[in-house]
Amino acid sequence: MARRKIAVVGLGGIGGVAAACLSLSPENDVTVCARRQIDKLTFDHLEESKQIPLKTLTDPSRAEPVDWVILCTKAQDSASAAPWLERLCTPQTTVAVLQNGISHEERVGPHAKGATILPAIVYYNGERFAPDHVRLRHIRGHDLLVPAGLPGDAFAALFEGTPIDVGRSAEFITYQWRKLLVNVIANPITALTRQRLGVFQRPDIQGLSLGVLREAVAVGRAEGAQLRDNEAETILETFLGYPPEAGTSMYFDCLAGRALEIEALNGAVVAAARRHGLPTPLNAAMLTLLTAVSDANAAETKTL
Ligand SMILES: NC(=O)c1ccc[n+]([C@@H]2O[C@H](COP(=O)([O-])OP(=O)(O)OC[C@H]3O[C@@H](n4cnc5c(N)ncnc54)[C@H](OP(=O)(O)O)[C@@H]3O)[C@@H](O)[C@H]2O)c1
Repeated sequence: MARRKIAVVGLGGIGGVAAACLSLSPENDVTVCARRQIDKLTFDHLEESKQIPLKTLTDPSRAEPVDWVILCTKAQDSASAAPWLERLCTPQTTVAVLQNGISHEERVGPHAKGATILPAIVYYNGERFAPDHVRLRHIRGHDLLVPAGLPGDAFAALFEGTPIDVGRSAEFITYQWRKLLVNVIANPITALTRQRLGVFQRPDIQGLSLGVLREAVAVGRAEGAQLRDNEAETILETFLGYPPEAGTSMYFDCLAGRALEIEALNGAVVAAARRHGLPTPLNAAMLTLLTAVSDANAAETKTL
């Protein structure tokens, strides 16, 4: 049987773990599309550390059409991955988008030459210690979740026999919004205050978080997510159980002076609210403040 041609675009924490795990299956022929040449990846999982040989491309003009693209850039870098997608995709390709947020189809579809877009919720923690060294940590039941149905089943088959467990759900939109709800408080508030999750122990931050969450819950419901009456309170309560010393990706990106994923998080809530005529002033304030931070970071990176 012909091996499945797979391109992993973006070799960060999530892409590194995905590339390492996919390479463990003899049925997969994996190419990594990255901005630097990396021929071998150290992959840590549980107590083990493995050396995984990689086939890497750094020049999109050398890429050829594949069966699967696993897109693992941050959401704000999706457009910069367009030269890869244009070479890798045909209408027979499926692009699995392993990014936070919603609206994956709208973000990636225009660059994907008629390929099928499969949104995926990422539950695993992928940490990059060095450009060629990543670690997989399992956080909860499934590591990835995709919509129930054919492309989702075929996607799950890519990871069979690897440490990544792929769930499929007919209630995907509800899970997508639940993950978004955590992200619309965790990321902006840690980034704006420049404090780790311990900042959520403050009653004033809890009050602000509930306001942001209640706005987003109303929008999620209007979008079709089956969110409970006490969803905002439940999310905040669960969240308070997380380790106070943990950071978020936006917190680390902010400290490192990188562009931020704010448009895909609070920006997605504000955009969806507009479609339904719902008010989201707190989410809009987070969006405005962090877009200003992100733009300044991006401008500084360009002048370096
Ligand atoms: N990490 C986690 O545990 C985690 C958990 C849940 C969800 N997520 C979500 O998963 C997504 C990926 O996150 P991440 O943590 O893996 O981010 P990351 O560590 O920043 O990795 C993103 C990678 O994309 C690469 N990239 C950006 N533009 C590119 C381009 N045009 N061509 C090729 N490569 C490009 C970057 O390259 P450089 O290295 O050259 O900058 C980087 O290696 C995000 O949406 C994030 O919110 C992450």
